Amino acid sequence: MSDDAPLVSATASAPAKVNLALYVGSPDLSGFHPLLTAFQGLDLRETVRVTLAPETSIICEAPFDTSGVPLDESNIVWRALSLFTQPHSDARSVLFRIEKRIPVAGGMAGGSADAAASLVALNELFQTGYSHAQLFEMARELGSDVPFSLLGGSAIGRGRGDQLESLSTEDSLHLVIVPSTFELSTPAVYRELDTLRGESELTPPAQLSVEFLAAWRAGDADALAPLMHNDLEPAALRLAPSLLGVLKDVEHAGALRAIVSGSGPTVIGVARSAQHAGEVANRLRTSGYQPLVTQTSPRAAELDAPLFQD
Ligand code: C5P
Repeated sequence: MSDDAPLVSATASAPAKVNLALYVGSPDLSGFHPLLTAFQGLDLRETVRVTLAPETSIICEAPFDTSGVPLDESNIVWRALSLFTQPHSDARSVLFRIEKRIPVAGGMAGGSADAAASLVALNELFQTGYSHAQLFEMARELGSDVPFSLLGGSAIGRGRGDQLESLSTEDSLHLVIVPSTFELSTPAVYRELDTLRGESELTPPAQLSVEFLAAWRAGDADALAPLMHNDLEPAALRLAPSLLGVLKDVEHAGALRAIVSGSGPTVIGVARSAQHAGEVANRLRTSGYQPLVTQTSPRAAELDAPLFQD
């Protein structure tokens, strides 16, 4: 491509998630753990811009350290691109510009959001016209949380988290997110859970409780807080004992409840209102934390800027 050739780009974004409830069964023959989970999308989004380029490369920008993010073929967005190029003999190359907002390897599906946003943006860039169902199948290939990152909003997840049942909610929940300065590997946390459980064979419950569903639908933080649950929390605490202090600090700062998000190490605190979340975050800041205040969101992965040339 010459210097004055048009740049052709598309931009999409996708939400962070938290698991308001996460029940994990014993691993199946492939090593994956069957789940029952309450996925909740947040008003905290990753943005991915894709631009046609002579060679594929990745630029990652964030208000925090992203040295843990690979910029080569192992990055999930590069794997998303390979799903678009596979059926064609001509390789397609793009520059990915990822604007990160979601803590890296924090149990909030930041990489999955990058993948979901990339699927939407690449579908536009290449004008492939894949349907939502086709993008969903591609998402499943990329990772357990990627289908939810495409769907967003509130959804019950089963299986590997890819069997999704959307739920409509009446009101937002307000959350304080406390990222950690270290990362936890998802497979390592699942392995630690298996070690903690020993030989016992467990299956996740078939349903979330009626009380949990009612509180979630209503956005009733007081009712929901004591019902939140994360089977991975004891495993995350074994690998990172300092998280116990973080959980206590978030509750001492006034959150109704603090739990580890997914496989951690991010901790989420539930608040009654935006103002309450702001107060909790301010107290945590005075104790040296760098919390983020956010709320739940019904938005899916979306195209932010359609195909353009400049
Ligand atoms: O699918 P994803 O890439 O997010 O998962 C990363 C790893 O976490 C898997 O390879 C597996 O070891 C573990 N995992 C699991 N059970 C799940 C989800 C993830 O064992 N339901």
